[in-house]
Amino acid sequence: MPSPFVNRRRVVVAYVVAALLVTSSAAFADFEDDLARIDAALKKNPSRVLRQALESCAGRRAFAINLYDREYPVRAKRQLKVCFDLLQIPETVPTPRVTAPSQEELQEKARFEIEQALPLTPDVAHGLEVYRQCAACHMPEGWSLPHGGMPQIAGQHRSVIIKQLADIRVGNRNNALMAPYAAAESIGGAQAIADVAGYIESLEINVGLGKGSGNGLELGERLYREGCARCHGETGEGRIEDFTPRIHAQNYNYLVRQFKWMRDGDRRNAHAEMLAQIQGFGDREIHAVLDYVSRLEPPAEIQAPPDWKNPDFVD
Ligand code: HEC
Ligand code: HEC
Repeated sequence: MPSPFVNRRRVVVAYVVAALLVTSSAAFADFEDDLARIDAALKKNPSRVLRQALESCAGRRAFAINLYDREYPVRAKRQLKVCFDLLQIPETVPTPRVTAPSQEELQEKARFEIEQALPLTPDVAHGLEVYRQCAACHMPEGWSLPHGGMPQIAGQHRSVIIKQLADIRVGNRNNALMAPYAAAESIGGAQAIADVAGYIESLEINVGLGKGSGNGLELGERLYREGCARCHGETGEGRIEDFTPRIHAQNYNYLVRQFKWMRDGDRRNAHAEMLAQIQGFGDREIHAVLDYVSRLEPPAEIQAPPDWKNPDFVD
């Protein structure tokens, strides 16, 4: 039966040791780190110094440990400093870069993934499996919800979906809500992007989503023809080759939010020429032109019947 006194003494000793460790741990870790780097350099000799220098350093190293054990940490460090000089390695570890990647770097990363995914043949069956996670927000039909917090993505060009996914994945378009679901860790690499894009493109478009007030449609039509049609097409069908999205029948609230973000520089992947085009747009013009856009319709053969339910999701 152990004595309670012994136990108590053990506890006290443990406290003292713990306290010493806490107070001296910074200096201790420092010395250990320096020593570990010197040992590695002694083994590999990265600066190709002469044998004489290696031997000198080995001597200093032994002396430093001796000093350290006798609790002369400052003198011990001074010996190690000589070692760093002898071995010609920097005394401090170079700090990793902490600045955020530039816009060009993000674009470059996204472009790389786009170029990988574009030529791949989509496996639509696998695309459906991936899409099951997306449907939580974009709904099984790809029409999203009437409030327009999320876009209709059904029928969007494959190239556009691939680009937007790649941009969101690398952070070239901010989307904190969706980013974890689109990450390579959750859906996979370029092939998964190609697959899910193929699936989404095959979904038909709902033309009954949110519209504007209907008050400025004449102005809206004029603005559209003058400033948007050359890129987004006469009926808002977009352009596959240069990643210009379909915008016809898109949810009005979503259109307004994206448009303002782009005008104000808050959507980083926006198209430079479009930005130049829309700088002068105030609220009246924005509401008019996007109301008009939300009422444009895709060809009948890719319009979904209004009460269609995606059969892939019926269990
Ligand atoms: C948690 C909700 C959520 C999930 C899950 C989600 N998204 Fe999204 N997605 C959004 C939101 C919100 C936006 C619009 C963000 C904004 O306003 O810029 C968006 C935008 C998009 C866009 C851009 C459309 C456009 O017109 O520019 C695409 C493409 C897209 N999502 C595809 C997907 C795919 C594919 C998945 C599954 C891998 C997915 N999303 C999962 C919420 C989600
Ligand atoms: C010079 C070509 C060009 C012009 C002009 C242009 N756009 Fe765009 N627009 C684009 C491209 C390209 C994108 C996609 C940018 C990207 O990669 O995210 C885009 C994106 C958009 C989006 C976002 C769609 C989405 O799904 O997120 C909206 C909305 C939009 N444009 C509306 C308009 C309107 C309205 C006009 C006219 C006032 C206009 N654009 C003029 C090229 C253009």
